[in-house]
Amino acid sequence: MLSDQHGRVKRKLRLSLTDRCNFRCSYCMPTHPVWLPKATLLTRAELLRLSRLAVAHGITNIRLTGGEPLLRADVLDIVHDLQSLRDEGLERLSMTSNAERLGMFARPLRDAGLDDLNISLDAVDADVFKALTGRGIAPVMAGIDAARAAGLPVKLNTVLIRGRNEHQILPLTEWALARGLALRFIEYMPLDQPGRWQREDVVTEADILATLRTRHTVEALPRGSEPATRYRIDGQDRVGVIATVSNPFCGTCDRIRLTATGELFTCLFAKTGTPLGARMRAGDDDAALTEILRNAVWHKQAGYAAQPGPVERPVLMYGIGG
Ligand code: GTP
Ligand code: 5AD
Ligand code: SF4
Repeated sequence: MLSDQHGRVKRKLRLSLTDRCNFRCSYCMPTHPVWLPKATLLTRAELLRLSRLAVAHGITNIRLTGGEPLLRADVLDIVHDLQSLRDEGLERLSMTSNAERLGMFARPLRDAGLDDLNISLDAVDADVFKALTGRGIAPVMAGIDAARAAGLPVKLNTVLIRGRNEHQILPLTEWALARGLALRFIEYMPLDQPGRWQREDVVTEADILATLRTRHTVEALPRGSEPATRYRIDGQDRVGVIATVSNPFCGTCDRIRLTATGELFTCLFAKTGTPLGARMRAGDDDAALTEILRNAVWHKQAGYAAQPGPVERPVLMYGIGG
């Protein structure tokens, strides 16, 4: 079991497959991103080896992230490989994607063994969407339809930024409810280009609820194991809020993260990572890698709640996968 010094047990691993992305969301990427050299990315075999080690030590859920995970040419093979860990303790294999390439990938992903998908959708208005992401909304909508048609459960993620898309709260909610899709609003976190995030730009959980209440009935639901607080809107249990900034949930954090090069971050806001991938490439055996993993997890920091505000580090949101 992977436990930390604050008594939290790790069950979920977020695995970034690449830092590259076809979108340019300002809350995630700098204006001029510098990509990791391809040769430094963990290979399919390396991803499987580290995932197997994590599953052997109690990880039950793996979420593939990016950048955009569907830009990895071998993404289907990776899903297929990881699916083989079900016999060893893996219970759920998920992905977070911008959905642009899902029209092509939804069914093959399901066939390869993916269980569910979280999809970023910051607006339903095409112009607002374009202004936020730098891309068109049509392929994303087609991707969401393809995922639903393939039978993959979908949750939508909306990062809100004041002055950019908070007027999309009601249209997005109504759009999602009409389709029976889960939707989580996310408070903008200070993990983007240094100096960009401002506290005033954060649309807080309280702001979101106040907006929802202007047109809908809103009842709070008990918190589950996810980062989102959940709400019943007009009788439907489909809306959540991930309120890292105004209401951090670090006390129950059960996650660890690996960047695409295999750097282990035990907290989204950790200032430094642990070079697990580099140690593997240097020839460490599984026993040595396990020791590094256990030790890093044990020393996991209390979290954002204990040290609120931006972190100064080279790895930004697009490099850690959220
Ligand atoms: P579920 O397991 O389906 O709830 O997935 P998720 O919401 O954890 O994953 P997703 O990739 O959809 O991320 C949605 C938002 O939650 C992103 O903004 C992530 O950065 C954020 N998030 C995910 N895990 C954590 C966490 O442990 N801590 C914090 N602070 N934010 C997180
Ligand atoms: N704050 C909050 N969420 C973010 N994401 C990316 N950058 C940020 C940020 N600065 C979200 C994306 C995606 C998820 C993996 O992380 O919207 O859904
Ligand atoms: Fe976990 Fe760190 Fe997120 Fe808090 S900020 S919930 S400790 S990953």
